[in-house]
Amino acid sequence: MAEKAEAAEGSTAAGRSDSSPSASQAAIEVKDLTKYYVDFLAVDNISFDVREGEILGFLGPNGAGKSTTIRILTCFMPASSGVVKVAGYDVFTQSLDVRRQIGYMPENTPLYPEMRVREYLMFRATIKGVSRARRRSRVGEIVSLCGISEVENKIIGQLSKGYRQRVGLADALIADPRILVLDEPLASLDPNQQQMAKKLIKELRGKHTIIFSTHILADVEEVADRMIIIDRGRLVGAGTPDEFARRFESERHLRIEVAGPRAEVQQTIQAVPGVKSVEVAEHDGLVVLKVRSEAAKDVREEVARAVLTKNWGLREIRSERMELAEIFARLTTATH
Ligand SMILES: Nc1ncnc2c1ncn2[C@@H]1O[C@H](COP(=O)(O)OP(=O)(O)OP(=O)(O)O)[C@@H](O)[C@H]1O
Ligand SMILES: [Mg+2]
Repeated sequence: MAEKAEAAEGSTAAGRSDSSPSASQAAIEVKDLTKYYVDFLAVDNISFDVREGEILGFLGPNGAGKSTTIRILTCFMPASSGVVKVAGYDVFTQSLDVRRQIGYMPENTPLYPEMRVREYLMFRATIKGVSRARRRSRVGEIVSLCGISEVENKIIGQLSKGYRQRVGLADALIADPRILVLDEPLASLDPNQQQMAKKLIKELRGKHTIIFSTHILADVEEVADRMIIIDRGRLVGAGTPDEFARRFESERHLRIEVAGPRAEVQQTIQAVPGVKSVEVAEHDGLVVLKVRSEAAKDVREEVARAVLTKNWGLREIRSERMELAEIFARLTTATH
């Protein structure tokens, strides 16, 4: 029911002709945001910015507080404390102005199940203030952009989940909002549709500021300029993939491939001075080792010498950064 109410009120964006009071500021500013559901702390004092024109991936495992945060910044729920500004407008005191700036696609896309797709989008365009003269052509553009031409005369309640989600995206885009807020836009899509949706989001870069949530790291890596990670209501990281990698630079390790007897190879490498830990696997008949050294000491030469002294084949030795997936797992409880 609550979701339905969201649909009815929707993001009544009338386009971006409005000038915001502070155009030079970040598109979205979140400061010390906290949200309690009665006594359950769902969002715990988080602060972040979304810069004008960027695509921000809002990443976190299930229950992290992504939808809660998104509902607050789209004015569908009040915060317990903290300040959120969208295009300079306060979500609490200037909610109508905020809604005009935002195209919001909720997690459970609240559509009118009895309406036909085109009819629904015409209705939404009207509510959101798209001029009568523009309405029909704008709906046509969006229908083709979101790949829903083949279902435009179907009844929404009879659409598959993926198509319903695309209609939700079309709805978010219809009034050409300055800011797009998409809650798990890729969740119900099959792999082909996901590719299409990712491509679409990338194509929207520069035209809109976009924040989208997901629990899938790869989606963020592929689409977003920057990401923030939340877990159990707390912000645990923010930055570009490169910044994350640099932050974990001390976690560099060596990847080594050796043609030799597995147990002995492991023992030998483990015994090299400065080596802290060795993980071993086998791949295509080669021993593959992941070697961590003390205080990120460079042990490449010593390791190579140890292998060559034994007359084993040294097929590869490479210094590797920590994988983003490992960083994500380290920062969150996703894999605990
Ligand atoms: N209306 C509510 N009343 C009480 N608790 C709620 C309510 N909505 C969400 N929660 C709780 O708040 C926490 C955060 O929920 P939220 O929906 O924001 O997470 P999420 O990151 O969007 O997760 P998901 O990936 O599963 O969509 C969860 O523990 C959830 O159970
Ligand atoms: Mg959610």
